[in-house]
Amino acid sequence: MIGVFDSGHGGLTVLRALTTTLPDERFLYLGDHAYAPYGMRSNEEIYQLTRRRIADLFERGCDLVVLACNTASAVALRRLQQDWLPTAAPQKRILGVFVPVVEALTAQDWYVRGPSPYAPPRAARTVGVFATRRTVESRSFPTEIKARAPSMSVIQQPCPRLAEAIEEGLADDALRRGVERYVGQLLAKAGRTQLDLVVLGCTHFPLVGDHFRAALPRDVRVMDQPDVVAQSLVAYLARHPEFKRRPDETPGLELLTSGDPKAVSEIAARFYGAPAPFRHLSGVEPEPTETLIAESEAQ
Ligand code: DGL
Repeated sequence: MIGVFDSGHGGLTVLRALTTTLPDERFLYLGDHAYAPYGMRSNEEIYQLTRRRIADLFERGCDLVVLACNTASAVALRRLQQDWLPTAAPQKRILGVFVPVVEALTAQDWYVRGPSPYAPPRAARTVGVFATRRTVESRSFPTEIKARAPSMSVIQQPCPRLAEAIEEGLADDALRRGVERYVGQLLAKAGRTQLDLVVLGCTHFPLVGDHFRAALPRDVRVMDQPDVVAQSLVAYLARHPEFKRRPDETPGLELLTSGDPKAVSEIAARFYGAPAPFRHLSGVEPEPTETLIAESEAQ
């Protein structure tokens, strides 16, 4: 069973691509709605919360977890993989949403569909990234991209409160104006530099993807991050068949939340694109983040 984790609803856009692309697998989605959004939290909080929820997925039988949240991937993934996983669960694996995007951009290790559809043809390329404030501050996108493609330049634009506004169901017109403002800010930073492509580096943003496309110059392409992540998982499972569904598991999907399942399920359908009935992550009632952090520091 493959675990998929996000702070809340955003990961459902990735989940949709995963379940569509890999219909024979079994997925368990966990949204930490009781603590969402993560984008405005401190790095330490994001790390502790993410670790806790991934441990929940491991306990429920997931050997592989996709961290379907850019913020958590940017802030917590490397530390989880290096400091926690080798001792806590050495047989298990956590995959983030950055490496697939960077591989698609740089055309490195992109072998699912042949040449990456997102790798611009010329050597010097400029990529725009829209993301939460924490993701931008982590500099994970520019760092990972530059490590593989030093000639590529990356212009980042934080979009504070956009994920929350999407989640809260703010009127479409207000969302469009917000997106236009962020696109305007990024284009101003780019100046006369030709933008080749933008990455919507937050799992909520595909819901306002049309507003981004409308506000950007027509020749700037927008990467479909959920699809890129799904193609990357296909390739990963081909290399690591031990993480594929076991014969005793049935294909399908289960959805868990740390929040209120009824309220979560009502909003979730908008993100998943189909009815998405959540159950509560039994036995784990919301508790103050400070308690979680104090507990882990005492260990
Ligand atoms: N899912 C998060 C991301 O992809 C955004 C939501 C949050 O801030 O929790 O960045």
